[in-house]
Amino acid sequence: MRYTQMVFAEALRLYPPAWAMGRMSTEPVEIGPYRLPPGTHWFFSQYVLQRDARFFPDPLRFDPLRHTEEEKVRRDKFTYFPFGGGGRQCIGEGFAWMEGVLVLATLAQQWRMELLPGQKVDVEEKITLRPRYPIRVRLQRR
Ligand code: HEM
Repeated sequence: MRYTQMVFAEALRLYPPAWAMGRMSTEPVEIGPYRLPPGTHWFFSQYVLQRDARFFPDPLRFDPLRHTEEEKVRRDKFTYFPFGGGGRQCIGEGFAWMEGVLVLATLAQQWRMELLPGQKVDVEEKITLRPRYPIRVRLQRR
């Protein structure tokens, strides 16, 4: 189950359902050369940061081993934040981990999935991130 959790974590890295978030600052903020007044709207993206090679080398490679306990301790908190953070952090995060890991483990235990030839795999950025095209796979019972 630990490895299944790392597979789920890596899917959330490359395909974060909540792919961007916003905040409004209530106090003046200074970041590098920028001075921003209260009332500034901030927009930041899990999709962009979680694919940044500074934090995840060879970022497009799907590698569950990026999510071992050692790696999680090593990385900055806000380089991987599929459930947001701070005061409005996702209230359902614990439930989502439990559900995601159990569903994935149940499916993978019973079925082998093979991508059919000619599938185009791309994302569509609606309010949540979705597959742009249908993804057809062949299921084989294990
Ligand atoms: C993979 C599944 C999920 C993902 C990726 C996800 C992601 C997020 C994100 C990014 C936020 C915004 C956090 C922020 O602004 O800092 C959020 C908020 C929230 N999520 Fe989730 N979520 C998931 C599942 C769930 C589930 C299962 C529930 C409820 C059972 C839930 C309930 C909420 C609620 C109520 C908020 C608003 C919290 C607030 O504004 O105080 N989420 N979620």
